[in-house]
Amino acid sequence: MAYDLPGKKTKAFLNSCKSYFKHGLTYELDAKRANSRGFKPPAQIMLDRAKGDHIWDLDGHKFIDFQNGWATNPLGNCHPEILEAVRLANERYGYHWEHPLRFELAEKLAEIMPGKQLSRFTYEVSGTEAVESAVHTALCFKKRRYVVSFASSFHGASLATKMISGYTSEHNIYMEPWDGSVIKAPYPHSENIPAGMSHDQYVDYCLWHLDHHIPKYIVPSDNIAAVLIEPGLAEGGNWIPSKNFIEGIRKICDKHGWLMIADEVLTGLGRTAKMWGVDHYDVIPDMLIVGKNLSGGIAPCAGVATRDEILGNNPSASSGSTFAGTPAGCAAGLKTLEIYQRDSVIDHAKKLSEIAKNRMAEWVGKYSIVSEVRQLGLLMGISFAVPDNDKIKEGWDNSFIARTVRDQMLRNGVWAICDSESTVRMYPALNMAEKVFTEAFDIIESAIVDVDSGAVLVGDYPAVPTGVTGF
Ligand SMILES: Cc1ncc(COP(=O)(O)O)c(C=O)c1O
Repeated sequence: MAYDLPGKKTKAFLNSCKSYFKHGLTYELDAKRANSRGFKPPAQIMLDRAKGDHIWDLDGHKFIDFQNGWATNPLGNCHPEILEAVRLANERYGYHWEHPLRFELAEKLAEIMPGKQLSRFTYEVSGTEAVESAVHTALCFKKRRYVVSFASSFHGASLATKMISGYTSEHNIYMEPWDGSVIKAPYPHSENIPAGMSHDQYVDYCLWHLDHHIPKYIVPSDNIAAVLIEPGLAEGGNWIPSKNFIEGIRKICDKHGWLMIADEVLTGLGRTAKMWGVDHYDVIPDMLIVGKNLSGGIAPCAGVATRDEILGNNPSASSGSTFAGTPAGCAAGLKTLEIYQRDSVIDHAKKLSEIAKNRMAEWVGKYSIVSEVRQLGLLMGISFAVPDNDKIKEGWDNSFIARTVRDQMLRNGVWAICDSESTVRMYPALNMAEKVFTEAFDIIESAIVDVDSGAVLVGDYPAVPTGVTGF
């Protein structure tokens, strides 16, 4: 049975705090607008509790968690062993910088870094800070002023990472002149390929732009320090780069003497069913940024791993805020890695990813609204587009369809992500029970059927997240 969302308690709660958060008034307005036009209001939940593969909202509705704290709970919600490790670390050390867990975790990370070649580590609190730290380290190491990042990339929401990310211009409004030293390179998305080009040709074009156009017409090669790439462009819509593209970037970096920085904040530590996203491409970056999963879903922990010489003697690249590498964060990271190894978590993620692959394989031809399914392990996305038939009104934005499917999934019991893009993004825990995972896919497919068949009308929601909880 589908949930009527938002439930009574959730709605009352949303209304009670609407004046405290950004977009606080949006939910009511959107609901009113949808109702007046005969559509369901946007589905909305507020968390009551979370455990393992599930979460519950204030009205007691239970959901399978494919949202995963924005891909941050690798072992499910509130893993008891990580909670305990964090409790013990807090009890023993409180907060101090000079605690042994900081060293133990750095040692463990060095062991699992690609090719075991990135042995130096610096701690940060968040992925955002870690990206900033990595970029500054690269500039200082190379003694150069520019960095290259890619269109649609997401590296954080601080001032610096807003400038570095490939956001659309509205996100950087009033900061436009600030990004003078970030060069945005084209990224070969698998949809919207320029007319007349194959995907391979598009990849070649993007690599050519990086290799030739940028150094010749934008900034001389010897003033570029690094290329920053997500090996799986996650927040931008779960775009999976081809092997040619990532390997091509490595070659171009080597040719020009640029550092290759892999932002593995989201792709790292098993999300793609390998330890690192770059492991799919047989490429070893010079620097690797880690965050999200390292927290075990309990205590923030992030940082940057580099080759020895990059951090080993780089006095000008200082970083590390007060709460970087807390005992709690390091304890969470250590316990998470221990469980990964003990329970063969990445093998399990691979098994789940095969199930997903088989389930989604025929969706593009089978459902007229599904334009593409993309997957690298458990980094999964389904893109939607207005089909060439009369089921859905012409001229409507593709993102309306994605939001409607995501809402229908939620009403039927699966919580996934759809921000402003035309993609529903899904990040289940790496250790999710197979039965729960399969059940989730039944629900996801039935939500697609509901919208595809016209049983649920596509709501004309604005292409921005709704509700009171932020953004
Ligand atoms: C690839 C990538 N880099 C950096 C960040 C920023 O990390 P945080 O939100 O922990 O600051 C994110 C967050 O989603 C991300 O996906």
